[in-house]
Amino acid sequence: MTPPILVAEDLVAGYFEDIHILQGISVQAWPGRITCVLGPNGTGKSTLLKTLFGFLRPVQGRVIYQGEDITGLPPYEMPNRGIAYLPQRPSIFPFLSVEVNLRLGAWHERRDRRQVREKIEELYRRFPLLWEKRYQPAGQLSGGQQRQLEIARSLMTDPVLYLIDEPTAGIDPQTSEAIYRMIHQLAREQGKAILLVDQNIKKALEIADYIYVVRVGTLFAEGPREAFGRDTEALVARWLYASGEP
Ligand SMILES: Nc1ncnc2c1ncn2[C@@H]1O[C@H](COP(=O)(O)OP(=O)(O)O)[C@@H](O)[C@H]1O
Ligand SMILES: [Mg+2]
Repeated sequence: MTPPILVAEDLVAGYFEDIHILQGISVQAWPGRITCVLGPNGTGKSTLLKTLFGFLRPVQGRVIYQGEDITGLPPYEMPNRGIAYLPQRPSIFPFLSVEVNLRLGAWHERRDRRQVREKIEELYRRFPLLWEKRYQPAGQLSGGQQRQLEIARSLMTDPVLYLIDEPTAGIDPQTSEAIYRMIHQLAREQGKAILLVDQNIKKALEIADYIYVVRVGTLFAEGPREAFGRDTEALVARWLYASGEP
């Protein structure tokens, strides 16, 4: 198996000095594979991604990426290193056009106009819908379309590692399917390492290669997808109410 591109070890982090939301979590991600972090609401999944992307500085533990210690590096350094992040909360600029939103995804390469243009055109081929709506204010798009725009924007930096937080929460089933297909392609066809946080356990069990289950700031279980079986209801019940290994 290929070695991991991301190794996060024993992370302790939170929003206040003395309250630790992550209480010693270790996760890894691999090129070409989808790694999924599952767990009930409020257990720290988003906090984990925010810590990996540098929005929160861990008080303990370290983040190793491509063999280098990047713990405590600020978020604006991440795109230059090939790390992208799709936040759980909407992050488009509603009054700016679709195309300007896309262009803002490449602010760190803004001086190379030709390269930015080429990337936008590549993304229009991949998301024809965004091409059709390119001059419209992004706020006029439906929720699912806005999510696709956010995904396209985060791909402007050509990430190697993509941290994705709940890509389809509150989005219609058809668009959700398209988004999961895209995530699958990003891993399988483009070799990106995907670290996906999701509430959609059923879907995660379908597309994930490796799964981590969190419960209140700690890891509860982990393993390759096959180790978890297909009975999602039984799994959820066990995660929520029981303790021990899967
Ligand atoms: N910006 C914040 N400030 C303070 N507490 C927060 C903030 N964001 C999340 N929390 C708290 O951290 C805990 C974990 O939240 P979160 O990581 O968003 O969980 P999840 O993504 O698994 O639902 C929750 O108790 C939540 O209330
Ligand atoms: Mg969350």
